[in-house]
Amino acid sequence: MATIIDGKAYAARLRAEIGLQVRTLREQHFVTPGLAVILVGEDPASQIYVRNKANQAREAQMSSFEYRLAYGVPEEQLLELIERLNQDPAVHGILVQLPLPPQVDPERVINAIRPDKDIDGFHPLNVGALATGGKGIVPCTPLGCLMLLKHHLGDLSGLHALVLGRSNIVGKPMASLLLKENCTVTIAHSRTRDLQAECQRADILVAAVGQPRLVAGHWIKPGATVIDVGINRIEEAGKALLVGDVDFDLARDVAGAITPVPGGVGPMTIACLLLNTLEAACRQNGIAFPGNIMQAAWGSVEGS
Ligand code: GUN
Repeated sequence: MATIIDGKAYAARLRAEIGLQVRTLREQHFVTPGLAVILVGEDPASQIYVRNKANQAREAQMSSFEYRLAYGVPEEQLLELIERLNQDPAVHGILVQLPLPPQVDPERVINAIRPDKDIDGFHPLNVGALATGGKGIVPCTPLGCLMLLKHHLGDLSGLHALVLGRSNIVGKPMASLLLKENCTVTIAHSRTRDLQAECQRADILVAAVGQPRLVAGHWIKPGATVIDVGINRIEEAGKALLVGDVDFDLARDVAGAITPVPGGVGPMTIACLLLNTLEAACRQNGIAFPGNIMQAAWGSVEGS
């Protein structure tokens, strides 16, 4: 039976540690990290995410600024708001919730965010920094996945990692991070010929395709570490269910460790968003970032 990687507990620890650091920052440097979240339209899932982000920012003692724009908002108006936030010294991180309505070009929006306030890590400068091994802001979901992997496995060097999915938000940055950790990395996607064979080779499997239970139990290499990024809403036997991209019930008999859905990667994403905001606030004020924050958060979880 696989170890269940409790992302919810890890994320809670990380948030508590971030909260302590935020307090120190305020007391010693008179800086309160500020997170601005922009939501365009009324997509119910996005509304829940945005509410969670704002609540957790406040719980971590940060300032939270929320902007809700109508679905039909002209692109120009959104760009003007971003420019105002770029110049606002109380705002250290700007997040525009995706997806955006069709009249708004997401590339133009992402490019408009000041790179040092781009706590999503989506701006080309941050993407480039990650790809070239430079210092930039790393996208939250892959960062959360990497933390869980390193916490569970320690050194990832030489392991064969399969990233299932090639999105800019998860798949591609995840592959870059794993490569940086000296994994042998394969990226699989919808056109991959023999997905099962690719999965069976992987010591680490990160699934991020948004297809409910795509990865069958027998596809998994015995003992592998499985990180399930999928959050799929399905209906089964008349019941609404939230399931991942991996068939959890069967996979847990084969894998060495696996993240559940919900309660795995999801909570880590928001914790990492807060971490990126804290780091951005430090950098923008010329303050050294408390580099041992992860160790402090992790140290007492499983004594590793
Ligand atoms: N929509 C789904 N995931 C994300 C994310 O990580 N960042 C933003 N901005 N929007 C999202």
